[in-house]
Amino acid sequence: MEIENKHTSGLYNKQPIVFARGQGATLFDIDGVEYLDCAAGNGVANLGHAHPKVAAAMAEQASTLITLFESFYNEKRAQLMLKMTSLVPGLDRVFFCNSGTEAVEAAVKFSRITTGRTGVIAAMRAFHGRTMGALSATYNKKYREPFEPLVPGFSHVPFNDIAALEAAVNDQTAAVILEPIQGEGGVYPADDAYLQAARRICTERGALLVMDEIQSGFGRTGKLFAILHSGVTPDILCCAKAIAGGLPMGAVLMAPSIKNLVPGVHGSTFGGNPLSCATALAALQVIEEEDLPGQAAKKGEYLKEKLQEINSPLIREVRGKGLMIGIELRQKVAPYIKALQERKVLVLNAGLTTIRLLPPLVITYEQIDHLVEKIGEVLALEFKTE
Ligand SMILES: Cc1ncc(COP(=O)(O)O)c(C=O)c1O
Repeated sequence: MEIENKHTSGLYNKQPIVFARGQGATLFDIDGVEYLDCAAGNGVANLGHAHPKVAAAMAEQASTLITLFESFYNEKRAQLMLKMTSLVPGLDRVFFCNSGTEAVEAAVKFSRITTGRTGVIAAMRAFHGRTMGALSATYNKKYREPFEPLVPGFSHVPFNDIAALEAAVNDQTAAVILEPIQGEGGVYPADDAYLQAARRICTERGALLVMDEIQSGFGRTGKLFAILHSGVTPDILCCAKAIAGGLPMGAVLMAPSIKNLVPGVHGSTFGGNPLSCATALAALQVIEEEDLPGQAAKKGEYLKEKLQEINSPLIREVRGKGLMIGIELRQKVAPYIKALQERKVLVLNAGLTTIRLLPPLVITYEQIDHLVEKIGEVLALEFKTE
């Protein structure tokens, strides 16, 4: 801790725990103390920590071939391309990168080069990443303002408001970018009708629809992708976080509507490296074999019901889909999150007043009961409101 405190960038709110290893939905600190991990590395560890099939695939590939630029062919990459482009009907090409924000950057560039337009419309409360293009699509002033001027052409409309989208999309709009469930912004699901209207408006006006499933993808919401709840097919689907079982990776799935992608337009040194591809293949196989989307749907319902039973006057609303759940309080959540951490339960916030639960999809029912018990316990505590 001393070394990290001395040499860290300073960008992170450090918590005074040193974790040594993980197993399923459990993290162990260096003294072997168990924590229930409902943060999952901010929505990465959908398969749980140290999944043996992911670890085995990674180890095997690490001793075979780790890196290979995408201008050369590789069997693992080809297999992953085949798999990824079979997941959403209509999305039949893929660009590999290394993180969520990179997937969004690529989506913005692909939208501009396809349409020859520059406008990008995002939603209020949206979070799409922290590099300059993705940050321009992100809404929160706290992240944006220190870095202005950002990329020109970006604007924000109220989420779930069809009329606002109708009014905003015009012949300068390259893309509309939306999260099917806003994560960081407060766990707000998009209405099916809103996504369907977004699809129609984009098609009518020659703009592209980009869905950011970086947080909601890979089973989290009860389906492989959250867009499958609404039946909407975007032109571009951005993925990252859980795609490779915890290894850094991003991917951009594309419809045939995406054009003009020729050598030099975009690229990535690490993108599509065999290590990430082999690991993602194993992760996707586990997601299917263990029916993690189905598990997320059932466990999410169970968790939501149990949370409703807490019946605390502090709870304003419990919302979300599958195992992407927000508990909005009538008070700031920070002291409650700290109290949960003291009780060895890790959760996230989403804005100032929402507790965000993103547990591994392999969390057990017993662990869910424990989580709910601890949430009930801390909500009975009294903290001074500021
Ligand atoms: C919806 C969404 N988009 C983009 C990002 C950025 O991803 P990364 O942190 O991998 O750059 C995140 C990260 O939390 C996210 O939740």
